[in-house]
Amino acid sequence: MKIFVTGCNGQLGRAVNLQYKDDPNVTFVNTDVADLDITKVDDVMKAVKAEKPDVIVNCAAHTAVDACETDLDNAYRINAIGPRNLSLAANEVNAKLVHISTDYVFDGKGTRPYTEFDAVGPQGAYGRTKLAGEEFVKAFANKYFIIRTAWLYGDGKNFVKTMLRLSETNDAVSVVNDQVGSPTSTKELAGAIAHLIPTDNYGLFHGTCEGVCSWADFTEEIFRLKGLSTKVNRITSAEFNAKAPRPAYSVLENYMLKLTTDYKFAQWEDAIAEYIKELN
Ligand SMILES: NC(=O)c1ccc[n+]([C@@H]2O[C@H](COP(=O)([O-])OP(=O)(O)OC[C@H]3O[C@@H](n4cnc5c(N)ncnc54)[C@H](OP(=O)(O)O)[C@@H]3O)[C@@H](O)[C@H]2O)c1
Repeated sequence: MKIFVTGCNGQLGRAVNLQYKDDPNVTFVNTDVADLDITKVDDVMKAVKAEKPDVIVNCAAHTAVDACETDLDNAYRINAIGPRNLSLAANEVNAKLVHISTDYVFDGKGTRPYTEFDAVGPQGAYGRTKLAGEEFVKAFANKYFIIRTAWLYGDGKNFVKTMLRLSETNDAVSVVNDQVGSPTSTKELAGAIAHLIPTDNYGLFHGTCEGVCSWADFTEEIFRLKGLSTKVNRITSAEFNAKAPRPAYSVLENYMLKLTTDYKFAQWEDAIAEYIKELN
């Protein structure tokens, strides 16, 4: 099986490669923006037609949530037009397309975990552009898996690393306590991707670790696992005052995975424990 990865240097791109590191039957074509800019339709078509992969895994995205508010054109190019281009190219070579989306497509005003059948309502530019990407994939790709994930951490820049860095120079950190979700490791998400790829079980999926916590709870667990005494001051989103709005309730139910597969994500506490162990 030949897997064509876009955004291969990002957190998920690295995890997808690791997922198959011991599989002699899988070869990779790894690309990132320097060699393949997914916003350029002609370049995408040419590269995919030349490689004829069995699967394209789109790990490329404009993930800087606050920056998307002011960099809207680029956000639409990367998060919407990019997946459109990959959908068209996948069809040309009859490849399956794995595309990753986000909890930010919801308004975050829910009171129970969102399923794939719940109405969307993005609050900010990042969510709107990612939703447009989903819609392009649904409209253009013949064989697709769209997986919405959330609070992702892996090999790269992420919340966990930021908290650990802050703890080096601070006795206490202030962390938002009124946004809840499910921290998800790229390793767990890559496992779900690998589970879906060989199947014809196409469609839209939620893919997050099990369980719920706030960013403050998550930070306390990170410090506990690291044996740090750094305190967590619980603050509100209003006090934190980020540029882009964040969904307050961001919990996704992996409903389609549960309805159609036996794949189960790990509990978030177990996934972060494994990640910290690997960091050590
Ligand atoms: N991170 C999260 O908390 C989170 C939460 C929910 C969903 N997701 C989704 O999960 C997926 C993976 O996220 P991630 O955290 O692994 O992202 P990431 O670490 O930011 O990686 C994204 C990669 O895409 C590359 N890229 C940017 N523009 C590109 C372009 N035009 N063409 C090709 N490559 C381009 C980036 O390169 P540069 O670094 O040079 O820009 C980077 O290597 C994304 O679809 C994201 O929207 C992430």
